[in-house]
Amino acid sequence: MKPPAIGLDFGTTNSAIALVGPDGRSRLARFDRFDRFEGAGPNDEALETFRSVLYFEEDEEDGRVHVHSGPNAIARYLASEEKQGRLVQSLKSFLASRLFTATQVMGRTYRLEDLIALLLKPLREQAEQRFGVPVERIVAGRPVHFVGADEPADEELALRRLTAALHNAGFREVTFEYEPVGAAYHYEQGLGRDELILIADFGGGTSDFSLLRVGPSFSDGGDRAQSILGHDGVGLAGDVFDGQLVRHLVAPRLGRGAEFRSVMGNNVLPVPGWIYGHLERWHHVSLLKSPKTLRLLLDLRREALEPEKLDALIHVVRNDLGFLLYGATEAAKRALSEDTKTTFRFEHESVAIAALLPRTRFEQWIAEPLEAIARCVDRLLHRAGVADTEIDRVFLTGGTSLVPAVRAIFLERFGPERVRSGGELTSVASGLALRAAEG
Ligand SMILES: Nc1ncnc2c1ncn2[C@@H]1O[C@H](COP(=O)(O)OP(=O)(O)OP(=O)(O)O)[C@@H](O)[C@H]1O
Ligand SMILES: [Mg+2]
Repeated sequence: MKPPAIGLDFGTTNSAIALVGPDGRSRLARFDRFDRFEGAGPNDEALETFRSVLYFEEDEEDGRVHVHSGPNAIARYLASEEKQGRLVQSLKSFLASRLFTATQVMGRTYRLEDLIALLLKPLREQAEQRFGVPVERIVAGRPVHFVGADEPADEELALRRLTAALHNAGFREVTFEYEPVGAAYHYEQGLGRDELILIADFGGGTSDFSLLRVGPSFSDGGDRAQSILGHDGVGLAGDVFDGQLVRHLVAPRLGRGAEFRSVMGNNVLPVPGWIYGHLERWHHVSLLKSPKTLRLLLDLRREALEPEKLDALIHVVRNDLGFLLYGATEAAKRALSEDTKTTFRFEHESVAIAALLPRTRFEQWIAEPLEAIARCVDRLLHRAGVADTEIDRVFLTGGTSLVPAVRAIFLERFGPERVRSGGELTSVASGLALRAAEG
């Protein structure tokens, strides 16, 4: 008997897993909904995705550390009043980082691959329950370029660690496939004729592109290897857009660019920029909560010309509000996918930030990453020797493809009649399962 065909998309923000049934169609595993989710990212409404997040908390009675994964992690985090636990996120974006080998969480050391395994094991077990078949042999997605990978050795490191994490999570046999190729398989379903397509998958951490031929001649046993004309990608996507919102909208209200008197004399100096660098990658906010940094912030506050901004910053750091801050920036970003303006709001006890945000301003802030994305598409087409006019269709997928300025790059370049989109959060997993079914 053929083993079940299963595809896993381990994403920076969301993960999903799909199985191809006897009818040849892929279906997604569904995960329990935790209803008291107000304030969590709106993605949690989607039952077919599993948030790529861990929450560590200590049992008040026996002092043991419990680790929660996915929707459970968000629910526990939100339920905890003191927020003494530790939320760990965007793990995928550290895979290529030589600096991140292991981290201490509540007195224990975890390697990156251990953390990812802790995240994926419950996902695997829940999928097994839903599907009623062993979830051990899979086709797993990988980005074309991992975030922060500058050279081939970094890509190799990332893949090695991802493989180890998957094995530790109980996926015994893993075949990797590029994530945009997964999306291509999804797109190809039901296609009546062959097409040359450009697949663009915009996630949380990476933007990935593939140029390939799809359609009946390829899906009916044709040579797939011949169908792929090229891949490219950049480690820039939704997380970087969120970071820009923090930089331009939030950080100035928490003292970025504000000045303090230097102890050494009458100089007036700005608050050190590295502090705000951590805020921009909101899952790094917890790193600021060390006694040393808190002392520095308190010293700065004493000398600050605008102490109330430093008070707000200290409040955010002390209460480890990175996740709430992210929730607020992400909500504003999503609102701007629908409307041309929105109001950014962030509130926690004494800190309240509200600011009107027109879409045009957001688009100015993300202009640089958008250009890098457009250049990446140029590079791919150029290397493959394919002219824009030869492309039959562009398929946009991934959560960040919902950002109008991202779509605009393709609408302008290829014309609306050639641009398609869909399956933003699930097309990769569903396509990887179809790929697994091909053997
Ligand atoms: N309506 C929306 N408008 C703008 N951005 C959105 C919207 N919905 C989701 N996103 C963004 O999409 C990203 C998540 O997309 P997705 O789930 O495709 O990523 P991922 O697969 O987890 O990441 P990666 O593929 O980079 O590993 C997040 O940055 C999220 O903020
Ligand atoms: Mg993805």
